[in-house]
Amino acid sequence: AGEQAKTPLTLAFEAVRGSRTDAIVVPEGYVAQVLVPWGTPLQAGQEWQADQPMTPERQAMSVGMHHDGMAGFALDADNASRRFVLALNNEYIDQDALWAPQGGPTNAEAGARPADESRTEINAHGVTIVEVEKDASGQWSHVANSPYNRRFTSATVMDLAGPVAGSDYVKTQFSPDGTQTRGTNNNCGNGVTPWGTYIACEENWPDIFVNRGERFQDDARIGIPTDKSRYGWDTSAGDATEQNGEFARFDITPRGERAEDDYRNEARTFGYQVEVDPYSGARAVKRTALGRFRHEGCWLGKLEAGKPIVFYSGHDARNEYVYKYVSDAAWDPADANRPGAEYDRLAIGSKYMDNGTLYVARFHADGSGEWLPLTPSAKTQDGRTLAAALGLAENDLAGIIINTCDAADLLGATPMDRPEWATVDPASGEVYLTLTNNTQRSEEDSDATFTNDGSELAQPGVGFATAPANAANPRANNEAGHVIRWRESRLPNAFTWEVFVFGAAADDADNHSGLNEMNQFASPDGLWFDEREGGQGILWIQTDNGYEGVTEHTNDQLLAVVPQGLEDIRGTGPVINSSNQQQLKRFAVGPNGCEVTGIFATPDKTALFINIQHPGNWPADANALVQDATAAASGQVRPRAATVVIQKRDGGPVGV
Ligand code: FEO
Ligand code: CA
Ligand code: CA
Ligand code: CA
Repeated sequence: AGEQAKTPLTLAFEAVRGSRTDAIVVPEGYVAQVLVPWGTPLQAGQEWQADQPMTPERQAMSVGMHHDGMAGFALDADNASRRFVLALNNEYIDQDALWAPQGGPTNAEAGARPADESRTEINAHGVTIVEVEKDASGQWSHVANSPYNRRFTSATVMDLAGPVAGSDYVKTQFSPDGTQTRGTNNNCGNGVTPWGTYIACEENWPDIFVNRGERFQDDARIGIPTDKSRYGWDTSAGDATEQNGEFARFDITPRGERAEDDYRNEARTFGYQVEVDPYSGARAVKRTALGRFRHEGCWLGKLEAGKPIVFYSGHDARNEYVYKYVSDAAWDPADANRPGAEYDRLAIGSKYMDNGTLYVARFHADGSGEWLPLTPSAKTQDGRTLAAALGLAENDLAGIIINTCDAADLLGATPMDRPEWATVDPASGEVYLTLTNNTQRSEEDSDATFTNDGSELAQPGVGFATAPANAANPRANNEAGHVIRWRESRLPNAFTWEVFVFGAAADDADNHSGLNEMNQFASPDGLWFDEREGGQGILWIQTDNGYEGVTEHTNDQLLAVVPQGLEDIRGTGPVINSSNQQQLKRFAVGPNGCEVTGIFATPDKTALFINIQHPGNWPADANALVQDATAAASGQVRPRAATVVIQKRDGGPVGV
């Protein structure tokens, strides 16, 4: 409203062809460089050595593995595009690369793992905080020994805050009062708060645990393994050097009558949004009010003074849900970040993130949608209160949050095609969300056990193993994925939505968005709207692709589009189609084996930062801190996930 007509942004780069090499491809006139690859020491006087065995101590003071979501935090406003603190998720590990000098991990599949191997892997997960800067020639490097450099790992002590903190659900041997836990795990996408903190989101954490005994309902629903944990860290339990059950805690099998006899509540201290102050040495805080599930990310809604703070988050699993958190407190611009200043940002985080309401989305076929509150007194589809339906005490909000997925089942939320990243157009408030793929999506079926009106329910403790197609997830066996967008309505808890673009191979029969060889893609994952002058911006789409129709033509990639038609959400068909698909252009292609994820730019948009995760044979020169990221390897290298900085050779803003 009141916006002046403006010249639409134009993507000025030449789209790149698909590529399947051990190198990054960027458009003509651009250059890419590697920054902070896995294993980069955070102190001065140390160098990465490709043949060096990793140890718990070395890994605890080096960049973690498998970079994913990330963000930059300015140190002073005048130099924000030249020097800042980079906060970076280290989602998971490549054991072959980690243990390459030793010929692989010991007993990776089963049996007792050496304690120091488990410790090293635990320390390769989490979050890396590292200062980076650009020199006069435009090269970026990290600042060794910066006071900001630090690591959070899967063993770092963290606080619990919000409704679950202090409840019986999270009382453990480690924290008998239920206010702390150890570690954050499988941090995938991320969030950035207006008060200058970083949110690391816990996604595939259930797999580090195992429960071989009687399962809690929430264990089953979230998918805690019943046979063995992903890496077998629990098998290091009993080692002579083990301290305070550092390994035993990953086996949550109930052993006796009482919770204090075993580790049954440990997994209930995971599955949250984790707030980190990148400017201070403060402990990280798990903000439980935002729900407990496999959080892909944490995306701030449109920020308005005097209105609540909103965060969106998807649960990335087949037929899981989209959530929204709305703070009780109204946004006070006096709380905005003061770059580089030292003060208690986590107290501000508590103000906005510890008290609020969590909602889950239901998408209707007519393009409308509603947000369903996950409160103890909310009414389920069959008219009970949520608390009663879950067998909880009347006001047990902590219990609702522990059982977030079950609560969403009971309300009739819409099962989605694996919600990954979201991003918000800061001018319009419109939200974009990637639905990466879903092979457990059957044909639409009016006789199915589920309808999109929620007239029949998912089973608490089970959810939907498979679900028939619905309007927002309309393709059976959706291998290529799609992107939807929505806008909040003026009516309470209502929104309108439409499909923005369908992934596809150019020659697919269901290439609904008319993609061609220069922009075919599948499995959209990372997503970021880069706000430019006048409130316009480029929407960047990253892929994590397993669909052969596209992978036979190209590795994972980064695409750009300037969204059109923002004023006019009204239909459920694709917005990008054969008449305007040229708006969607391939900007970069990653090396073999990788996914392309994590994205932000400097405030002046002259440097775009992305992450290359789980590359197969890259980067070519592992000894070089900074190198030409487009160089292809001539032999097998010890692969290292890394951040990549993409800049224009002429120093201008990226993409335009
Ligand atoms: Fe870690 Fe859903 O990607
Ligand atoms: Ca990933
Ligand atoms: Ca992802
Ligand atoms: Ca993915």
